[in-house]
Formats: sequence, structure tokens, C-alpha cells
Amino acid sequence: MTGPLSLKTALITGASAGIGWATALHLAKTGCRVVVSARRDERLAELVVEIEAAGGTALALPADASEPAALDRLLADVTDWAGGVPDIVVANAGHGLAGGVLSSDRARWEHMVQLNFLATTHLMRCAAEAMAAREGGGQGDVVVLGSCVGVNISPFSGMYGATKFAVGAAAEALRREVGPRGVRVTTIRPGIVTSEFQEVAGYDAENFGKTVAKFGEVLQPQDVARTIGFVVSQPSHVHVNELTIRPVGQDYP
Ligand SMILES: NC(=O)c1ccc[n+]([C@@H]2O[C@H](COP(=O)([O-])OP(=O)(O)OC[C@H]3O[C@@H](n4cnc5c(N)ncnc54)[C@H](OP(=O)(O)O)[C@@H]3O)[C@@H](O)[C@H]2O)c1
Repeated sequence: MTGPLSLKTALITGASAGIGWATALHLAKTGCRVVVSARRDERLAELVVEIEAAGGTALALPADASEPAALDRLLADVTDWAGGVPDIVVANAGHGLAGGVLSSDRARWEHMVQLNFLATTHLMRCAAEAMAAREGGGQGDVVVLGSCVGVNISPFSGMYGATKFAVGAAAEALRREVGPRGVRVTTIRPGIVTSEFQEVAGYDAENFGKTVAKFGEVLQPQDVARTIGFVVSQPSHVHVNELTIRPVGQDYP
């Protein structure tokens, strides 16, 4: 398959559903060879079949993205498969958590911070370092999924929003470190996207439905995937380093 990203290789975490799945499909359709990762290997296998049926090239490498050692192995395996450091790493695996500081499930805080912030930042750091050290000069894209609640805190997802503030800050710090070495670190901040996210976060379906109904049509994972495709397709001297994408009717947060 040829396209603007042909001959490039992308690693996408959290690719067994939602934004990650759509991003893998989108990048594959624009010519990228994609490596898809998540914990549910049967879902990844389905995605590989779908990509290959559309003429693309894909490899599934299941991994738990909350474990730094598993992410190290993943990056090493992608590098072996691709014959070099991947050109694009989309650090997308993450989950939400319903409620504020008082009302959210305290038992889920550690794992969420580990996945959404610490392990995601570990992946960004390892990928950016390898891209910057590339033979012949640094080059590459590290894209992380922040959130609009990672710049405008919402009392309805306070602790989740805090992890997205943290990972957005780490991404900006890393951008300053590796931008001068040719590597672009980008934060994508979606508003409401329908996916498995709401159920995993424990949102009350009725309340969520009422809130969302006020916003009109909300985003689909494909809308975010196109945005990521836009960012990584820019000429090498251009960096769209932060991008917020919301449903038109979403006035808050
Ligand atoms: N949906 C929204 O409204 C929204 C808004 C702003 C930002 N975001 C962010 O966008 C990203 C993707 O969200 P989504 O809407 O696509 O959610 P989703 O449909 O629930 O998909 C989440 C993906 O992350 C993977 N994942 C979760 N925990 C993992 C772990 N420990 N190791 C490896 N993979 C893991 C899941 O796969 P497995 O379960 O198979 O591991 C799944 O593929 C997240 O970072 C989320 O915070 C979402």
C-alpha cells in the first residue's frame, strides 16, 4: 500500500479498541506498516486481519502497557521487526475513572497513575531517546493521548484529569528536550469520543447519556485517528505539537 506515510513504521498501544484501533487502521491506509499492541490478543488478531484485507501490513504484539519492562520488550521487538527504530509511536493505552477526588474509587488510583502517567511517560522517553539517536540524524513522532480534561479539570473525572495534566506536562517537557534533536512529541487532547472508555471508566450510562445529549453528535474514534494522521504527515520542519479536538457542541470541559 502506498501513501504519504509509506515505508514508515508505527507502533500503537491500546489498539484493541477505540482510538487506538481506528488510528492503526488509518495509518495503515496511508501506507504505514503498523504494530498494534494491547492486552487482548484476540482483538489484535482481528485488527491485523482487517488491515491486511485492506492491503496494509500489520503485526500484533500483545503487551501490558502499565509495565515498563513489557514496554521495553515491545519497543525492542518492533525495532527488530521493522529493521530500525519505529518512525511513529502512539502512546494511546489508558483508561478513565468516574468521579472526583472525593467520589472516585480510591482502589483504582495507583493503577491509573501507573498506566496513564508513569508507564506512558516511560514509553515516550524510550521511544524519543531511540528516535533522537537514530543513525544519520534524529527523526520521529511520539504522539500521546492527553484529554481536554488534562487542561480544564472536570470535577466529574478529577483524578483521571490529573493523570492527563501530568502526562501532558511530561510530553511538553520531553518536546523541549528532543525537538532540537529532530523528534516531535505531540499531545492530542480529545473531548468526548464514544468508545469502550466510558464503560471501563465506570460512567453511569444514564447520566452520561443525558450530558452527551446536550452536546449533539460526539466524536468517533476515526475523528481522532484522522487528527493523528494529520499531525504525523506534516513536513519534517513543521510541528503541530498540541491539538484539541472536541465535538462542536461540547461547551464543557
Ligand atoms: N474516549 C474519550 O472520550 C477520550 C477522551 C480523551 C482522551 N481519551 C484517551 O484516549 C486513549 C484511548 O481511549 P479510547 O477512548 O480509545 O478507550 P478504549 O476504547 O477503552 O480503548 C482503550 C485501549 O487501551 C487498552 N489498554 C487499557 N489498559 C491497558 C493496559 N494495561 N495495557 C495495554 N493496553 C491497555 C485497551 O486494550 P486492552 O483492554 O485489550 O488492553 C484498549 O485497546 C486513552 O488514553 C484515553 O484516556 C479518550
